[in-house]
Amino acid sequence: MFPRDFVWGAATSAYQIEGGWQADGKGASIWDTFCHEKSGVFENQNGDVACNSYELWNKDLECIQQLGLTHYRLSFSWSRLLPDGTPKNVNQRGVQYYNRVINDLLACKVSVMVTLYHFDLPQAIQNLGGWKSPGVAALFNDYAKFCFETFGDRVKLWITINEPHTCAKLGHEVGLHAPGLKEKGTAAYMVGHNMLRAHAMAWHSYNSVYRATQKGEVSLALNSDWFEPLDPSCHEDVTSAERDLAFTLGWFAWPIFVTGDYPDIMRSAIETQSKMMGYSGDMRLPRFSKDDPPVLGTADFFALNYYTSRKVTSGGCGDQMLSMKRDLNVEEVLDPSWPVCGVSWLAVVPCGLRKLLKYIKDVFNNPKVYITENGFAQVGPVQIEDVDRCEFYKSTISEVAKAMEEDGVNVCGYFAWSLMDNFEWADGFSVRFGLFHVDFSDAELSRTIYQSGQEYAKIIAKSKSASPI
Ligand code: GAL
Repeated sequence: MFPRDFVWGAATSAYQIEGGWQADGKGASIWDTFCHEKSGVFENQNGDVACNSYELWNKDLECIQQLGLTHYRLSFSWSRLLPDGTPKNVNQRGVQYYNRVINDLLACKVSVMVTLYHFDLPQAIQNLGGWKSPGVAALFNDYAKFCFETFGDRVKLWITINEPHTCAKLGHEVGLHAPGLKEKGTAAYMVGHNMLRAHAMAWHSYNSVYRATQKGEVSLALNSDWFEPLDPSCHEDVTSAERDLAFTLGWFAWPIFVTGDYPDIMRSAIETQSKMMGYSGDMRLPRFSKDDPPVLGTADFFALNYYTSRKVTSGGCGDQMLSMKRDLNVEEVLDPSWPVCGVSWLAVVPCGLRKLLKYIKDVFNNPKVYITENGFAQVGPVQIEDVDRCEFYKSTISEVAKAMEEDGVNVCGYFAWSLMDNFEWADGFSVRFGLFHVDFSDAELSRTIYQSGQEYAKIIAKSKSASPI
């Protein structure tokens, strides 16, 4: 059973749902560019229209109400608010749009969690070097301050950056996401570093200028699979799983929650490879500078995006050249007992979430935790009666309850990914994570609740009516 004040939410992000890519003065983002350059997105699809939430926001609001959500997590499009990325040029119509969304939600008694950055850097900032360039941190801080100033009287939960790990790795190492760079073994660490610097600056701005009056909370959303040794009695497998956790969650959580620096395991693994390849370790994984505001302590809660789990064993990296994969040097496998839903990477392992929550409690000093994303994908013919996804939500939420009741993890909220089917990045519209189906072949883009949406609504209603624990 969940406490009465438990946060029940669903999440979306701007590029994935809004459309209106050029509407009313919006500037281009790196995802506009990436899709238009036909960089490998499924069937060359793009988010030009997506769910058209820019025009159909009222329909989204109806969906939110139908589920009975207490909270809605959305992201702001930086280049819709600030077309060239800087507050020198504010797009008032972008401000009006988000004001309307926020005010409508609050009028319906739904609280708002806003993500400032969900993968869609203004193209103007990419042109200056993007996340690889140290100057991006100050630009992000200006944008964050603009948002706190403009919307912070009503928004009380802020996520600065969504999944820095994904942005760094898929955007700059693998090239599957915008800006599509494949600079193996170097760029991703620099990007991650600048994201941490940007986040820390924004948190300090909030802390010193806005917190006293606005009384909100600020964090960043970290994604991680749960990694466990393939053979728990094998020392190499145990250390490989530890290394995977360090390179995924620890990369960002360690500096913020534990030491102010990257995990030792990560630094030493990178240094070993660097020496072998003739690089100095610090050239790849930077040091935090005393000239920047400290990173340690810059999260008011732990925001976790969890989707899946992996069994881990050592070695297996065939990369001859420098790469993150070579630094990490593990092999990840799926347990044959785990069902795989829709996309090949998404093995359904609800108990992995419980284990990861317990790990977060133990390693990161028992923080307040919001699960800011978790979901199940459907691929192929649409099934409105999505029985598998119903089961998935029931069992996942029961694992969250066990983490709270039996392991004492301080979980404050759960956000399903996603409110509705949307543009699933490189998979375009072929992968559907919604609680509502969106008919992309219909000009109206009609939204229809899946059975799993009904199931989630029931869980929320039951929790709201139960007595507090
Ligand atoms: C996350 C991302 C979301 C969504 C989800 C499902 O990494 O933050 O935008 O796409 O994965 O793949």
